[in-house]
Amino acid sequence: MSGATQSVALGRPRLHVRRTTSTNDRARELAIAGAPHGTLVTAAEQTAGRGRMGRSWTAPAGSSLLMSLVLRDAPAPLPLLAAVAVCDVAGPGVQVKWPNDIVVQDGEGLRKLAGILTEGRPQQGWAVLGIGLNVALRLEDLPSELGKTAATLGLPPSAIEPTLAGLLVALERRLATSVQATLAEWRKLDALRGREVFWSANGRHLSGRAGGIDETGRLVIVPAKGPCAALDAGEVVLWAELDKR
Ligand code: BTN
Repeated sequence: MSGATQSVALGRPRLHVRRTTSTNDRARELAIAGAPHGTLVTAAEQTAGRGRMGRSWTAPAGSSLLMSLVLRDAPAPLPLLAAVAVCDVAGPGVQVKWPNDIVVQDGEGLRKLAGILTEGRPQQGWAVLGIGLNVALRLEDLPSELGKTAATLGLPPSAIEPTLAGLLVALERRLATSVQATLAEWRKLDALRGREVFWSANGRHLSGRAGGIDETGRLVIVPAKGPCAALDAGEVVLWAELDKR
C-alpha cells in the first residue's frame, strides 16, 4: 500500500455513515447538489448495496470497504481505470475480469474480491464511482451461495481505513495518467485473455475466446469461425463459472 501517507485531493469532503441504503445513493444526491470533485461517501453497512446488471452487493457490517466518490469530468474508461487502481492496492495475484470485476484465480474459476459500479450524468459532467472491496470479510459470514464465489483480503477490520487511503492515492495517480497507459495496465491484469467465454445477446447464447480489449475498452471475442466481435457492455462467463449458477 505504498503512498498511503501522500496528500490526496480525492476523499475531501468525506461523509461517513454507519448505515445507509447505498453509498452510491448518498454520493449521487451530493453530486446533484453540487458537491465538488473528490467528495467521498463511506459506510460501515449498506442495506441496499447495488451491483452491476441490477444485482445487489452484500457485505456484513464492518467487513468491507464500501465507498463512493463524486468525480467531475472523469475520463471515459473510468470503470477500467478504477479496476486498475483497486488492483494496485489489492496486491499481487489479483486480476480483472472484464469489464471491472476484481478477481483472484481459484482453480479454473474466479472468485470476486471487489466490484465497481459507476453511475452518473455525463452531460452534467459528474460520475459516481462506487467500490466495494472485501478487506476483512469472512467468507463464512456470507450466504453460502455467495461464499462459493467471493474472495477476501482476509485482513482485520482495522485495515479498512489504510486500504481506503491507499486506494485514494492509487485512483488519483491513475486519473492523472493517459487513457492509453490505463488500458495498457488493464491488459496486464486481464483474467480472461485466451479463455473460452460465454455470453447472451438478444436471447441467444454465444461463445468464443476472449482476445483482450480494444482501444476503447471493448472486449474482443475471437469466435471458432467467422469475424471477431467486440462487446461494449454486459457480462461474460467462464466455463468453470457456468456450473456455479
Ligand atoms: C458489481 O460488481 O456488480 C459492482 C458492485 C459495487 C458495490 C459497491 S459497494 C459501494 C457502492 N455502493 C453500492 O451500492 N454499490 C457500490
